[in-house]
Amino acid sequence: MMVLPVFLYGSPVLRKVASEIPEDFPGLDELIVSLFETMYQSEGVGLAAPQVGKSLRIFVIDASPLEEDDASLKGFKKVFINPTIISYEGAISTYNEGCLSIPEIREDIDREEAIRIRYCDREFNYREDYFEGIAARIIQHEYDHLEGKLFTDRISPLKKRLLKRKLTSISKGKVDVKYRVKHL
Ligand code: NI
Repeated sequence: MMVLPVFLYGSPVLRKVASEIPEDFPGLDELIVSLFETMYQSEGVGLAAPQVGKSLRIFVIDASPLEEDDASLKGFKKVFINPTIISYEGAISTYNEGCLSIPEIREDIDREEAIRIRYCDREFNYREDYFEGIAARIIQHEYDHLEGKLFTDRISPLKKRLLKRKLTSISKGKVDVKYRVKHL
């Protein structure tokens, strides 16, 4: 198990609330490596386990490609296991988001500028951290995946209607991307 196919919009696993991971979960290290490899292969900055068909509460982030937009992202590479966002802070900001499970669609999404989150790191140490800016943005996007939510749930009904045809074709696997995908 290394690079895994990315499940596309319409796959039921993307709509499930993911399960907590026990500390003795077999193959956890391998799963973490696969998530990073799959994310790098598809040129994403974040990837959650449901996106590779595993309904588990874990996501990985490497935001260093966005360092030019935000210098604080330099070396921002992390694993979040069993995370809980415990507070949303700051003003609402808008940012143009995309998702490896919804290729070729990008939309402006409103989210809180900062969050406080509890999670386990790669070594299963319990942590509580505060993030703001693009880091907080990516974490909220990936966290949504663990709750069975997608960024297209956060756009207006009108915009969603305009995207309906495109979303239907994505759910049928009609996408033009360089990474391996899987649908339904
Ligand atoms: Ni996503």
